[in-house]
Amino acid sequence: MSLVTGLYVVLFYAATILLLVGLALRIKKYATTPAPLKIPTTPAPVTKSGVVWRMVREVVFFESLFKSNKWIWLFGYLFHLGMLVVLLRHLRYFTDPVWFWVNLIQPFGKYASFAMLIGLLGLWARRFLVDRVRYISSPSDHVMLALLVGICVSGMSMTFVAHTDIVQVKAFFLGLMRFSPQPLPTDPLLLIHLGLVAALMIVFPISKLLHAPGVFFSPTRNQVDNPREQRHLAPWAAKLESGE
Ligand code: HEM
Repeated sequence: MSLVTGLYVVLFYAATILLLVGLALRIKKYATTPAPLKIPTTPAPVTKSGVVWRMVREVVFFESLFKSNKWIWLFGYLFHLGMLVVLLRHLRYFTDPVWFWVNLIQPFGKYASFAMLIGLLGLWARRFLVDRVRYISSPSDHVMLALLVGICVSGMSMTFVAHTDIVQVKAFFLGLMRFSPQPLPTDPLLLIHLGLVAALMIVFPISKLLHAPGVFFSPTRNQVDNPREQRHLAPWAAKLESGE
């Protein structure tokens, strides 16, 4: 095994463990954080199925963002939708045989990368051009955007400018999944792409990108608006009340 392959084997195993364990711990923390008050953003659904539907609209259409800011919604939506199609297209590197619908979306995935890039650049431009937003932007806001732009541009360079050996890339990742490492192609664009992806996996559980799982735990979105019909009692408060 070459030095580069060895380095990337270790890097991807470490990044995967950090991502999975880090995410699990974060989600556990979110799930066990008390929500002592009824604070759904009104007008809010008054039934559980209404809340599920609200959540679906939030996740699929970014509804509350749409209501609050059309520009951020437009760029945010372009980026996320583009990334979704790109990532689904990537499933071909991790599945053998490749599922038929992953084959079907290959051409779309290729061009979805433009939507992803335009969205990211729009969101980034906002952090420089809008005074209020520039003032509250922290270095980590810029770093996360830079990381995603770097991944997108290095990926697109492979797709549209200088191809890598995708058959060997797939052999490498299937090898990792089967615990039998195979050689990784060593062209710089691929090494940059994968290095940045590993960095993203490592920082994900301690970054603002946690809004992805976090949205499901947001009390302003996931609560039923029924404070008169039913007394709201957080589990820890119930324990206190019962004298436990
Ligand atoms: C271990 C995970 C990943 C591997 C093995 C991988 C590999 C690749 C390869 C080989 C290409 C070039 C495809 C071609 O020449 O046709 C590519 C393109 C691309 N990658 Fe990745 N990538 C990974 C993760 C990601 C992630 C997490 C993102 C986004 C956040 C991303 C975004 C892109 C984009 C935008 C392109 C260009 C469009 C396309 O061909 O789909 N990649 N990737």
